[in-house]
Amino acid sequence: MGSPFCVPIFFLLYIFIQSSAHGQSPGPELFGRRPRAVETQGSLQETETRFLLFKDDPGRGCRIRLHHPDTLQECGFNSSQPLVMIVHGWSVDGMLENWIWQLVAALKSRPGQPMNVVLADWITLAHHHYTIAVRHTRLVGQEVAALLRWLEESVPFSRSNVHLIGYSLGAHVSGFAGSYIGGRHKIGRITGLDAAGPLFEGTTPSDRLSPDDADFVDAIHTFTREHMGLSVGIKQPVGHYDFYPNGGSFQPGCHFLELYKHIAQHGLHAITQTIKCAHERSVHLFIDSLLHEHMPSTGYQCSDMDSFSQGLCLSCKKGRCNTLGYHVHQQPHSKSRQLFLVTRAQAPFKVYHYQFKIQFINQIEKPVEPTFAMSLLGTKGEMQRIPITLGEGITSNKTYSFLITLDLDIGELVMIKFKWENSAVWANIWNTVQTIFPWGTKPHYSGLVLKTIRAKAGETQQRMTFCSENSDDVQLHPIQEKVFVKCEVHSKKLKRKTRGA
Ligand SMILES: *[C@@H]1O[C@H](CO)[C@@H](O)[C@H](O)[C@H]1NC(C)=O
Ligand SMILES: *[C@@H]1O[C@H](CO)[C@@H](O)[C@H](O)[C@H]1NC(C)=O
Repeated sequence: MGSPFCVPIFFLLYIFIQSSAHGQSPGPELFGRRPRAVETQGSLQETETRFLLFKDDPGRGCRIRLHHPDTLQECGFNSSQPLVMIVHGWSVDGMLENWIWQLVAALKSRPGQPMNVVLADWITLAHHHYTIAVRHTRLVGQEVAALLRWLEESVPFSRSNVHLIGYSLGAHVSGFAGSYIGGRHKIGRITGLDAAGPLFEGTTPSDRLSPDDADFVDAIHTFTREHMGLSVGIKQPVGHYDFYPNGGSFQPGCHFLELYKHIAQHGLHAITQTIKCAHERSVHLFIDSLLHEHMPSTGYQCSDMDSFSQGLCLSCKKGRCNTLGYHVHQQPHSKSRQLFLVTRAQAPFKVYHYQFKIQFINQIEKPVEPTFAMSLLGTKGEMQRIPITLGEGITSNKTYSFLITLDLDIGELVMIKFKWENSAVWANIWNTVQTIFPWGTKPHYSGLVLKTIRAKAGETQQRMTFCSENSDDVQLHPIQEKVFVKCEVHSKKLKRKTRGA
């Protein structure tokens, strides 16, 4: 881990740890309020959480009060529309954060899909030492559950029409709401946006957000990088679908070195913004899924980011891929699915994922370690000189698989230019080797040969094979560019052959 990363993470975790030290020691007593909490379920008269409904004007919200049906009318609650409730997280400064208004606006900006957008404002309970705020999450969960139950009793309304969106500690609040609501049916959906890690990681499902808490639970993990055994966002899967953008541990554009750029944009506010950047990225990915609906980001099921980076996981078969954010396909599976994807550093976050597979024939005794660059030409655009590092010496006949992501939609891939990039040094060595072993005289016994490149586009699930444009010259040479085109002719021949057989 580079030290520039550690600074903000350390700072944030320091706050967590320090507040844990001041609070009571985490342990069984941390969640000891459960029995009392269950008792109060039926009798809750007033909530400490303020429920604010947002009408079309982007005002401050209209307060809905438990057991006051008149407030539903005053605020313009429409029981035939779905209810989306935003639940914020832990607060250091006692202020509602800016992303809340951005998310409200994004949810309200959907023409033809009106909904009741409510904020569960529990800031007075969240503005405490972390450990105490954690303890309050159960109470707030009960209050949310009480409000939903009361809605069902007061107006024609169903909990299956409810979508809770919880950020950080708010994700666990939503989970508790889902388990406290009781009854035979569950809340429709819960989205956990970088659900908080400290004091929740590794706990039993009833002590955190889990797939049991709603008919469908999706989660986005964006800041799970560990420091001193703790991470701000929870690492373990907590939903039916858990998305890990860029591996989930840290996010592009959130590097501490970009602080200067942020200061220019946001003034001194930038310091806290930079610290929260990766954590809050989960929210902005979700907002992006609402604002750029036509550019959905796809996540692909994979065991870890390493395999994903080799391009090994771009399958959509049997629900192995899903859409990140609001428009996720709600197919609950018994087993939680972990999905990976790459994103850009800012909105729109979508990238296009490609897997490439190349197999060299290396007739040199020693493995060679060249670096390559590929240019991709598609029906809608092109991308020049994408560097490729294979990470190890090229040995004979091994297949190399790697992931390439493009910010831009180049359409259907039609041509690949493959260039052996480095350096004059290699060219010299190569020439020397060629002089000693004059392969040129025996074309079939060449140095490094690349005949085909196989590609798969994640977003379209299209598979393609590319052949050297000039099939008589398949040798790679330093600094020389080779053109590969689709091998349709070849594959047709192949098909004819197999049919004939
Ligand atoms: C409530 O919502 C429904 C469905 O969107 C709509 O048809 C109806 O007009 C709304 N009622 C009011 C009073 O706005
Ligand atoms: C690699 O493949 C070539 C051509 O298919 C074959 O002649 C050669 O023996 C293979 N080399 C190794 C080490 O398997």
